Amino acid sequence: MKRTKIIDLFRPEMIGQEVSVMGWVRTRRGNKHVQFVALNDGSTIKNIQIVLDMSKFSDEELRPVTTGSSIHVTGRLVESMGKGQTCEVQADTLEVFGTADVETYPLQKKGHTLEFLREKAHLRPRTNTFGAVLRVRSTLAFAIHKFFNERGFFYLNTPLITASDCEGAGAMFQVTTLDLNNLPHTEDGAVDFSADFFGKPTALTVSGQLEGELGATALGAIYTFGPTFRAENSNTPRHLSEFWMVEPEVAFNDIYDNMDLAEDFIKYCINYALENCRDDIDFLAQMYDKELVDRLKFVVENEFVRLPYTEGVKILEESGKKFEFPVYWGADLQSEHERFLVEEHFKKPVILTDYPKDIKAFYMKLNDDGRTVRAMDVLFPHIGEIIGGSEREADYDKLLGRIEELNIPMKDMWWYLDTRRYGTVPHSGFGLGFERLVLFVTGMTNIRDVIPFPRTPGNAEF
Ligand code: 4AD
Ligand code: MG
Repeated sequence: MKRTKIIDLFRPEMIGQEVSVMGWVRTRRGNKHVQFVALNDGSTIKNIQIVLDMSKFSDEELRPVTTGSSIHVTGRLVESMGKGQTCEVQADTLEVFGTADVETYPLQKKGHTLEFLREKAHLRPRTNTFGAVLRVRSTLAFAIHKFFNERGFFYLNTPLITASDCEGAGAMFQVTTLDLNNLPHTEDGAVDFSADFFGKPTALTVSGQLEGELGATALGAIYTFGPTFRAENSNTPRHLSEFWMVEPEVAFNDIYDNMDLAEDFIKYCINYALENCRDDIDFLAQMYDKELVDRLKFVVENEFVRLPYTEGVKILEESGKKFEFPVYWGADLQSEHERFLVEEHFKKPVILTDYPKDIKAFYMKLNDDGRTVRAMDVLFPHIGEIIGGSEREADYDKLLGRIEELNIPMKDMWWYLDTRRYGTVPHSGFGLGFERLVLFVTGMTNIRDVIPFPRTPGNAEF
């Protein structure tokens, strides 16, 4: 008999059928006449109840069926009399694939803390919480591809190993095959990278944007969706050393088109999750965050506020609120400032634009005032910055001016400058931190809990 996934058992037409079910035991309870097993196979948050009539099975057969063990059951799917479930399987046969020692299985008990489960990242996907989070994550990834595909964007794969620092923050993980215990040196004593694998220093990318711009100025509209790496020592609930970023880049779009795209995009993804992961979202809401569904709907249904940085700073200065970090024109806004604007002042997502050029990357288009750039950050409740983007500087001389001002090594940038030398066009794009979106949609509070295997400073165990 072919296996049926548990999610499909709940379809009404399945009632009365003989089924074959496989999964992991969540709990077993009962008495000497009848035993009940709650079985989960990951296809849905819902468990299927297996009913074992103990006149057909021996205690011996049931002994290895403990929390965490894996089993195969065949039997008839019938309507359930029990509370909280619609159907159950009346078992005819039982096969145990693998046992899980009651003494050592780490998820033996229910109700472990998220901190404890982080230490068990290899097994935590088997819990309700992480099952739900990972299904929502997967659904959101699909929504991202679907959104861009429906709008005629092309999916561009940009390199993970790169020789240029897109964000100019210098927080890159080096990639080398040199023997660190026996480094080759040049005559002046520096490390001789010509002997390295690529013949020059390379690192893991912090963003696919620069290569994305090459794609956009050829295909018109592209997006990237891949891992990015940042070696900044940020131990916060919103930073990872390895995270996934979605970066659309569109030729002929100005900053206003870019804001429209960002707003449509994020609303589409949230809506898609609401429509396709409702069981999981409801579970997470009930467990961790009672206002989750209302918050998600609110974001989808309301227009984001659009506000220049200068106005935002004014609001913060006049708020009379004591912040840990001071606010003044020119300051890089901290999460506490962003969240004040979003959660307390506007009570809506905010797109903050036109930041001072000194706190933003070299590639952003300079405004006529000469001191601000066409940047746009999308700020979200509970999250702070979820998207960072801009209209790009399309003028060759102005871009070169910025590169020189910031002392960015020119020889690494020649190919990027060619986009402005040959057929330059106005264009814009942004980067969405995928885990921050998953964080928002799941209502989790720590970014380490929305990626299967988090990498943070000092932590790469699993
Ligand atoms: O604002 P960022 O640094 O922008 C860029 O990298 C641009 N090149 C994007 C572009 O215009 N194509 O990063 C974009 C987003 C942030 O808004 C944030 O959501 C997320 O990436 N992000 C992080 N997420 C998790 N951990 C980190 N360490 C992150 N750093 C940035
Ligand atoms: Mg940013």
